[in-house]
Order: sequence, then structure tokens, then C-alpha cells
Amino acid sequence: MKESILGYLKGNKEGYLSGEYLSNIFGVTRAAIWKVIKHLEEEGYIIESKTKLGYKLVASPDCLNPYEIKAGLKTKRLAKKVHYFQEVNSTNNIGKELTRQSFDDGDIVVAECQTGGKGRFTRQWISPSKKGIYMSILLKPQISYENITQMTLFSALAVCEALEEHTQMELEIKWPNDILCNQKKICGILTEISGEVDKINYAIVGIGININLDEGDFGEELKDKATSLKIETGCVQNRVTIIQKILTVFDKYYDNYLSGATFEEILIKYKRKLTIINKIIEIRIHHNAPVKAMVLDIKDNGALKVQMEDGQIKEFLSGEISLKKE
Ligand code: BTN
Repeated sequence: MKESILGYLKGNKEGYLSGEYLSNIFGVTRAAIWKVIKHLEEEGYIIESKTKLGYKLVASPDCLNPYEIKAGLKTKRLAKKVHYFQEVNSTNNIGKELTRQSFDDGDIVVAECQTGGKGRFTRQWISPSKKGIYMSILLKPQISYENITQMTLFSALAVCEALEEHTQMELEIKWPNDILCNQKKICGILTEISGEVDKINYAIVGIGININLDEGDFGEELKDKATSLKIETGCVQNRVTIIQKILTVFDKYYDNYLSGATFEEILIKYKRKLTIINKIIEIRIHHNAPVKAMVLDIKDNGALKVQMEDGQIKEFLSGEISLKKE
């Protein structure tokens, strides 16, 4: 009932909703409505109550609770269930635990803070409280293992488009799924999969976005490589609005993907966001030393096609690249 009352208050921001009106809708006493309002206030909602008029929502707290994320969200699969935490070790780890119990395709895990945020290549993902988006999307797509790179690519495209729509800034994707703003990293995606060769049991798409981090949050090592939306736009950004945009675009791409649509259209859009075609890069596979290559293309399966220094043509389904000065 709390969620629904909040929904009514959010849908009626200009005026007041009387206790009597709400009690009729929910079939409870006005005292029960008052109790719910008090709970919402305890959670940080500012609600004006006026005798004879009723209740009006004045402000919502800066938090990613499920009512906030789900309010007005129109997705087919994503975020039907939102697992919300103040602090976790890693939202991907929580996601893995949930897959051992029961979960539905599209359930999400979000946290205000991560104490052991994981990046690719066993790196750490800086996750200060309430300054970023730390979200894992739990999926069970009926696809084979070899198509998983395609999923990684459309995840990056979905997040990139949502962030561009929100900021009106031009962003760039670094293959496979880093998002850069003015050449600095703003978002990273860690996809963890369990399955067999011909079948995926689940995929956890862990999305980390630097939203309101300040320069000091990154530390010496990252300060020239990473940035945040706040640093780039000069203003504090609303994390709920951004999450809702991401979920909406992701849901659309995921639905399209599951319906068997060709990957061609996504690939064309993805390639428009890449700036590495025909450029010299260094590619690192697993923990091996990086090797130099020239990028030729991205294949239909999402693989990076490169020409090595000795002229050999190779394709990589995963790895980490960095642009080399020619
Ligand atoms: C990268 O190295 O670029 C990937 C970073 C992924 C970070 C996100 S934050 C939410 C989810 N939980 C984690 O522990 N990692 C991912």
C-alpha cells in the first residue's frame, strides 16, 4: 500500500490528496493512511499535510528505493522486482546469490554503496555512497554462449543512449563496453555468466556509473582516466531518473534481441559510437601482456577484428583495449 500511496502522491504533485479520498481508494481507515504517510516521512519523503486539504508530496529523498525506481516505469521485463540495499559487497555477488534461489528475467539489484565493487580483470570499482549507480540486471536469455558478446554490446549501447539522452552530451563506447565522456571513463559494465556451451543459465549485467563523484573520489591512479557526470556537466544529477532511462532503453533492446531481430541494426548504432576503427590499439587478453594491432571491424557476433603487427587477422570476443598514439 505504501508504494501505491506514493504513486498517487507523485501523480498529483500540484495539489493535495485528502485522507478521506485515499482511505476510500484503499479501503482502509484515515488513521491507516496517516500511518503510511508517517512511514514515508521517516524514509525521507517531505510531505505537506494540511487540515481539510490532505497530503502533498513536496520532495523525495535522494535514494534508489524500489518505489522511486518503479514510479512511472513502463518496461516489459526489467525491474519488475527491485532488490534494494544500502550497502553491499557487490551487486553482482548479490545477483549471483539470488540466481541460486528464484528470480525472474529482468529483476535488478541496486545499492547505495558497494564495499567490494568489482571491475573487469579483477580490478576494484570505486563505489562511494549515493554518488554512483551500482546496479546489476539479472537475465535468463534463451541464447547460446557464443552470442553473449552481442549482449555485452547492446548493454553498452543502451546505457550510452540513455546517458546521452539525459545529458545531451556526445559519449563514446570503448569496445566492448566502457562508456567514455571526453575520453575519460564514466561507466563500466561487468557481465558474469553461468551456463553450458549451448545454453545460458543466467547472465548478470553489472553496471557502474560515476554520477556525482568528485575528482577526489577517484584517487591518484584514476584521476586522469575516469570522470563523473557531475564533473562533466557541472551539476548534481538525479540517479533515479538516469536508472529509469537506462532500464527503459535496455528493456527495448533486450526485447528486440529476444524476439530474434537481427543484430545488424544494433551493430550499426554501436559502431557509430566507436572511434577505434582503423586505429592502432593495444589489446590485452586475460592477464597476458598487451599486443599491438589495428582495428578493422566489429563482427556480427560482437568480436573485435584486428590486424596484428605481423599481418595476421585475428578476432577477439573479449579483452581490454587502449588506444595507441600512432
Ligand atoms: C569495469 O571494469 O569497467 C566494469 C565495472 C563494473 C562495475 C559494476 S558496479 C555494479 C556491479 N557490481 C559490481 O561489483 N561490479 C558491477
